[in-house]
Amino acid sequence: MSDGSSFYITTPIFYVNDVPHIGHAYTEVAADVLARWHRQAGDDTWLLTGTDEHGQKILRTATANGTTPKAWADKLVGEEWLPLLKTIDISNDDFIRTTDERHEVNVQKFLQKLYDDGYIYAGEYEALYCVGCEEFKPQSEIVDGTGEYEGQKVCAIHSKPLELLQEKNYFFRMSQFADRLLSLYEERPDFVQPESARNEVVSFVRQGLSDLSISRSSFDWGIKVPWDESHVVYVWFDALLNYITAVGYGQDDEEFARRWPANHLVGKDILRFHAVIWPAMLMAAGLEVPKRVFGHGWLLVGGEKMSKSKLTGIAPTQITDTFGSDAFRYYFMRAINFGQDGSFSWEDLAARYQAELANGFGNLASRVIAMVTRYFEGIVPPAGEYQEVDLHVQEVVRTAAADADAAIGRLAIHDALAAIWRIVDELNGYITEQEPWTLAKDEAQRERLGTVLYTAAEGLRALAVLLSPVIPGATAKLWEALGVEGELGALTAQPLRTAGDWGRLPAGTEVNGLAALFPRIDAEAVAAV
Ligand code: MSP
Repeated sequence: MSDGSSFYITTPIFYVNDVPHIGHAYTEVAADVLARWHRQAGDDTWLLTGTDEHGQKILRTATANGTTPKAWADKLVGEEWLPLLKTIDISNDDFIRTTDERHEVNVQKFLQKLYDDGYIYAGEYEALYCVGCEEFKPQSEIVDGTGEYEGQKVCAIHSKPLELLQEKNYFFRMSQFADRLLSLYEERPDFVQPESARNEVVSFVRQGLSDLSISRSSFDWGIKVPWDESHVVYVWFDALLNYITAVGYGQDDEEFARRWPANHLVGKDILRFHAVIWPAMLMAAGLEVPKRVFGHGWLLVGGEKMSKSKLTGIAPTQITDTFGSDAFRYYFMRAINFGQDGSFSWEDLAARYQAELANGFGNLASRVIAMVTRYFEGIVPPAGEYQEVDLHVQEVVRTAAADADAAIGRLAIHDALAAIWRIVDELNGYITEQEPWTLAKDEAQRERLGTVLYTAAEGLRALAVLLSPVIPGATAKLWEALGVEGELGALTAQPLRTAGDWGRLPAGTEVNGLAALFPRIDAEAVAAV
């Protein structure tokens, strides 16, 4: 049973200089699956996502497009980023924009506190800056350019030239926090996950930390530094604070206490901001550090990180228009070990769609509903005496559900899906072996036929509940087909942590017709994308 504990999960807030691609959608889906899981398990869940709208990158894009940064951000949020959430069925509880007043005002409050407490000072700075990353680059991420950038220093991530910036800035005394951060990683080994990410962060901090430049004065698209309005707050310092300004920091203490600390999901390229700078900022402000920071891998296309700037960006709608949102969600959560890089390919997507969703799960659902309709006039029969094979199905359902919940607890979404798929495979094997169509020919086997179909239908009930966080559309249709809403309530209200307990499906309910959950996809439609 749920203990009703708080589960606050965040995605990074996305830059609005460009349109979303499947890399962004990937984080959104992962966060959404975890949020839906916890919500359905009864935890006090909050899913936050949003957009990162200040800084030089957005300013330059807006200027290049002949508009103001705010007008540009409004357009991109309205036309691209909010619609993305619908395209892939994200159940976010809030959407924060860094241009929201609730954010700007409380960023200033936070900064003022750090300034008053002596964690901020004025200094001079000269270093190489990458506008793509919005970061002064460490030596390890500066490489020699090739091709058109031959002879220049470029960013290892964006392969674009770096800019030498020399400014008077305000600095955050981050160097003071190296020891406390190292103790944090030591005392809470799961603070940074996965293990590889943790190791990287620990060795980075062991080399010692420099103070961080947190203001800019050469442009003005940002939040003004409260005690010196000729400066705006560094875009990362501003952006990280979204995680607390969205849940009441500085404004609503009760809400803040209820939600914070968060679980942060981020791509591994922005891990250091979240696992080093962010906890140091929080420590300076006397606030609790996050619950954990999980760095997921990259979606690779042609062996490289998929990105718009390298022209390998794929829009989520290119996939959902053909395969649908459920298949999008399932594919990325199943095919890639969460935490590692994964290559995207149309062939793999099409093959998994057909084998796992259409033939594996969809077909199972259609067959069971069709047999209950044909052999029992659509009324779920009661089970008679269970035999060994039936008890085995029950055991698979019970252990798979428990394993899936444990996997979600460690953010291993791929393992959770693999566990749940043991039920799909078990039920398909069970039906093939038990041959209900043969039992149906023999009146003396009527009770046995009832037991087999009850077992299959109850297995489907468990599958609908367990898969609803991942494929909410198809499972809603299955729930409707099982005809149990009246007896058991809405699918999303089914308790997840006891989904594997046998016998919840009441016998005697009437099933409804079920159209193919994952219709066959024309190979030509795939080739045309
Ligand atoms: N605005 C910052 C985050 C601020 S959070 C306080 C930012 N935005 S971003 O739009 O550039 O990237 C957002 C996320 O998308 C990052 O977590 C990044 O890792 C992720 N991805 C971008 N390309 C990706 C792939 N090819 N694959 C997987 N994730 C990718 O950084």
